[in-house]
Amino acid sequence: MTDPLLERDFAAAPLALVAEAAGPYLDSLATRPVVDPEAAKLIADLAGPLPEVGQGGSPVIERLLTVGTAAATASSGPRFFHFVTGGATPAALAADWTAAMLDQNAFARVSSAFAHEVETIALDWLRQLFGLPQGWGGALVGSATFANFTSLGCATNWWAERHGVDVASRGLAGLPRMPVLSSGYVHSSARKALQMLGHGKDCVEVFQRDAVGRIDLAALERRLTETQHAVIIANAGEVNAGDFDPIADIAVLAERHGAWLHIDGAFGLFAALSPRTAHLTAGVERADSIAADGHKWLNVPYESGFALIREPERLGRAFGMPGAAYLPGPQDPGGGYGLLGPESSRRSRALPIWATLAAYGRAGHRAMVERHLDLAQRLTRLVEAAPDLELLADTQLCVVCFRAAPPGVPDKDLDELNRKLGAALLADGRVYAGTTVYGGVVALRPAIVNWRTTGSDVDAFVDVVRELAAQLG
Ligand SMILES: Cc1ncc(COP(=O)(O)O)c(C=O)c1O
Repeated sequence: MTDPLLERDFAAAPLALVAEAAGPYLDSLATRPVVDPEAAKLIADLAGPLPEVGQGGSPVIERLLTVGTAAATASSGPRFFHFVTGGATPAALAADWTAAMLDQNAFARVSSAFAHEVETIALDWLRQLFGLPQGWGGALVGSATFANFTSLGCATNWWAERHGVDVASRGLAGLPRMPVLSSGYVHSSARKALQMLGHGKDCVEVFQRDAVGRIDLAALERRLTETQHAVIIANAGEVNAGDFDPIADIAVLAERHGAWLHIDGAFGLFAALSPRTAHLTAGVERADSIAADGHKWLNVPYESGFALIREPERLGRAFGMPGAAYLPGPQDPGGGYGLLGPESSRRSRALPIWATLAAYGRAGHRAMVERHLDLAQRLTRLVEAAPDLELLADTQLCVVCFRAAPPGVPDKDLDELNRKLGAALLADGRVYAGTTVYGGVVALRPAIVNWRTTGSDVDAFVDVVRELAAQLG
């Protein structure tokens, strides 16, 4: 095959192969190992020199499916507890396929009025889901890293404006350093966003009162009294144990001292969905910007993040495109979200967000969050009951922080044991979780945010951890 035009009349044939493979693959997620080290060898079948003459769509998709369904990491399955990794609800997954099939450019109304309008609906539904006031706007982006970037880009615009500078035109040259203040919970992606924005990853001043990273509010306030126009990053859900900065208290300080308040709520923002955890996010409505992910606790496929902004017009000021004669300008009715966020041409990532919220509603997503809260408590109880495991933090949300501590193993050897345990878990592949350092000690930190996860997956996780720890101990 040398030209896709030859396939025009049966363009849907490769898609039918994907649809056929989807059922068995998705059904297998309940029982398949997260990683099958043997299957990884198959990936070599896709290598070789660039073909001069191609095989055509259907044979190639067959090859890709054979390798992919065997060698893919089952990270959308129920026993992948590493990082903070959601699955894809049935409606979200189908809508993602629809987005690929329709292949819209969600740059602007003129490129796709459909994509633009669905994005407007999806953003407003997200605003409502998290109980934010009317008038907030936002941008759909590829990840929470980019949501932090978008939010802190707006903050930079605000801060420079206070120095009389339009930073979108002039850049940072000649300006002092932007003061950025946070707790020890600040996520590395917020630093990465600051690094991409030209402030540098080291610009964050951290105010923490303990080894875990909990905020020192008094020190933060002292610093705010000596600074003008600071940007505060408050953390709603830190990765090691799912803890929160006291957002309402920080909001009071931000208002008192005229600071921009940004919330990194990549997954923790979803605590707002349940009355059981809504107290953790109280005060987010007083922020200036919020970053979160769709591909974590909303359970839509990668890549899905969103920034929610109190003054949506900031997005245009920070991310409007320098004019080009062939493109719509800022006030043009043909304009759209490509002028209100970091990307220009972009896929219609609103579709899976719209679909999962339309399919399962607020109640369905609350039920999912609450199931995960219950599962995290179940895991916590199993850890507490096991003589060879030690819980390291209270479980407030969906992350359980613990380590193996078999009787008789001296404290000084536990870090090495847990590092080996983390590596053994990944090599074993039946269940999946990684290690971190929490309060100075090496720990496991499984996160439960996948709609498919049930009690038996959590039980299997603990069984495998104890089995491997016993082998290592
Ligand atoms: C608190 C927090 N912020 C930001 C991120 C970055 O998310 P992403 O990988 O989607 O960019 C994460 C990822 O785990 C996170 O936990």
